[in-house]
Amino acid sequence: MTNARVSIGGVTLRSDLILAPMAGYGDLPMRSLCAELGSTASIIPCIQDDGLLHDSRHTAELLRTAPHEQPRAIQVLSKDAERLRRAAPSLIALQPDWVDLNLGCPSKHIVSGGRGAALLRQPALIEQLACTLVSILPCPVTAKIRLGWDDATRNYREVAQRLQDAGISALAVHGRTARQGYSGVADWEAIAEVRELLEIPVIANGDVRTPADIDAIQQATGCQLVMIGRAAVGHPWIFSRLLPREITWDVRMAMIRRHLALMSDTYGPRNGVRLFRKHLTRYVQSMHGATVLRSQLMRAARPAEVLETLYRWRVR
Ligand SMILES: Cc1cc2nc3c(=O)[nH]c(=O)nc-3n(C[C@H](O)[C@H](O)[C@H](O)COP(=O)(O)O)c2cc1C
Repeated sequence: MTNARVSIGGVTLRSDLILAPMAGYGDLPMRSLCAELGSTASIIPCIQDDGLLHDSRHTAELLRTAPHEQPRAIQVLSKDAERLRRAAPSLIALQPDWVDLNLGCPSKHIVSGGRGAALLRQPALIEQLACTLVSILPCPVTAKIRLGWDDATRNYREVAQRLQDAGISALAVHGRTARQGYSGVADWEAIAEVRELLEIPVIANGDVRTPADIDAIQQATGCQLVMIGRAAVGHPWIFSRLLPREITWDVRMAMIRRHLALMSDTYGPRNGVRLFRKHLTRYVQSMHGATVLRSQLMRAARPAEVLETLYRWRVR
């Protein structure tokens, strides 16, 4: 891989690694910590066009950001060019560095409404949505796809070409079909095909769990940019190319303390602790006796109780 800086529509990136958008996880606290450790961009996941149009409180919470989030992208979910057009002023007002079109979310709730990965069955509509965004937004537009709806319809080449023709500036490819969900193995060869087909930057995604995987996916796909999702939960150090076993107790504790404080600031102490539990489970999963520790931690209701439980565990 070259060390040349990659840019997305003129936005220069500091490194090759990007935290994948993850609804329910990739909020301001997680994005901030991953950025400090090397994730080169903050992508606010899964903002529905309806939420933008109706100025919903829930959407405003999801859109919470901070000045240090730079560059900062907003990912939108839509199946309707007209609705996107109407939502555009709200998007523009948020001044994102780019806007990403979500074409890969496989969740039942989303695809049953014809959005996310369901759109992979309608390449012409995908092109229309991308053209709409490209024509009305002053910033670059990107997209994130899977390989197709199912094994019988792996139409990633057609979809990728149409998106590039529509004028998007980069394309992230998760090497699975929608039907696969998260099962099986991500197909890095298919990502390589997209990389060879397109002139815009292609971002490789799927099953990067270790620093060695980062090199391997870059080699296998020819993509410089790599997106990492699940492996970053409870292990933001992946963006500094470190393995869990390289993280000392003190460093892990300092991170848990900071993440918890950010959650508490963002959501309030009780909600912060509640929402932090899924992260906490992952932070401690490699620790000795993690199962017992986890069950004790799940009972803690306040930030101080979480920290006390951890310290008591350490000195026992
Ligand atoms: C809990 C969860 C939430 C996700 N939410 C989104 C999302 O909002 N938008 C999106 O494009 N992808 C979403 N994804 C998919 C990830 O961005 C990524 O493509 C996928 O996890 C594969 O990468 P990984 O193997 O590094 O985890 C989500 C994945 C998970 C596990």
